[in-house]
Amino acid sequence: MPAAMTTAIAFQTPCEPRDFLDPLEFLLADHHRQRSLCDTLDALAEGPVDGDTPATVEAVLSYLIEVMPLHIADEEEDLFPLLARRSRPTDGFDDIVTVLRAEHQADEELFEPVIDAIRRLTDPESPVRSRHIRPVPAFAEAQRRHLAWENAVVLPLARKRLAAADLVDLGRAMAARRGLAYPD
Ligand SMILES: [Fe+2]
Ligand SMILES: [Fe+2]
Repeated sequence: MPAAMTTAIAFQTPCEPRDFLDPLEFLLADHHRQRSLCDTLDALAEGPVDGDTPATVEAVLSYLIEVMPLHIADEEEDLFPLLARRSRPTDGFDDIVTVLRAEHQADEELFEPVIDAIRRLTDPESPVRSRHIRPVPAFAEAQRRHLAWENAVVLPLARKRLAAADLVDLGRAMAARRGLAYPD
């Protein structure tokens, strides 16, 4: 099985209510899936298009359009505000969150060109050119940096500062975002 296809399968996101009992572990697992997504994006950008490309393109588009916005909302709407309340001035979280929010904003600006480039890979009417594909590896590289930093700084800080009740609130909000009932 070609590398792009294997990694496409690796980033698909199974989730069930009990996953949200440990929401920080779920976010970490999301980051692992996003790293696989980045490998797939690089493989697609380098080509060639083959018989497996349509399924890979479909999986990438579904992740970018349906799954990634949920992850960003988990962080922006739930994790970051909780950490802002629980962190201590010496944690420097205000500065950290300013950078992370700016990176999310930058990702959002690259979303449309990346999606357009990926769609073109299987659309004979809209051939892909190098100017179309250029944002794809740029997006993958920015993602890798972003999630490495979240893994190294944000998730360990969350483990240290969030109380058990905060984790229940976080897990409940993340499950609700996916239309799942939090297990009681
Ligand atoms: Fe993030
Ligand atoms: Fe993240």
